[in-house]
Amino acid sequence: MLQDIDYPISVQFDFDEGAFSPVKTRSDRRVSDLKMMFHDQDAVQRALAAGDPLVYQILYHPFATSKSDMALGVSRIFPGRIGDEYYMTKGHIHERDDQPEIYFCVKGEGYLLLQTAGGEFRAERWTPGTISHIPPMWAHRVVNTGSDMLVFVASYHLSAGHDYRLIEAKGFRQMLVERDGKPTFVDNGRW
Ligand SMILES: [Fe+2]
Repeated sequence: MLQDIDYPISVQFDFDEGAFSPVKTRSDRRVSDLKMMFHDQDAVQRALAAGDPLVYQILYHPFATSKSDMALGVSRIFPGRIGDEYYMTKGHIHERDDQPEIYFCVKGEGYLLLQTAGGEFRAERWTPGTISHIPPMWAHRVVNTGSDMLVFVASYHLSAGHDYRLIEAKGFRQMLVERDGKPTFVDNGRW
């Protein structure tokens, strides 16, 4: 019996732009898409009234083949804050409990926040060139604490699935806020 053959796929990443092409889909995430994630709800309302700014974009290419396969995502988090809290991704845990992920910071600076369902918390400091492995069963979020765009490349299995509920309900144990002009970890009162 003839077997299907899957052919290689390449995309081109531009380090200055922090983007690759061709992109299959692009998702824009605005303040309205993650308003429950920020601790200062008055500041959220002010941001919505001021035009609902773009917080981050995801450029996506599913390297889909005839069998199981990997997905490529490039996330671009703009610099900014809601109140004193820095712009960040929504954060999620994978639906499947056996699915890890690789994140590669290519531009900007910030932190990768990780947390288990039981509340164990880790924060990985990111500068351009940091590559982090996210083990299965750890929720993950990226925070841009710099004054430029933070760009990272993500690679994960297409079957992993995204579950946002855990993080939507309580967030991460610690938040990153600006204090005296510096990124500072503070406890999240919802934990
Ligand atoms: Fe993920």
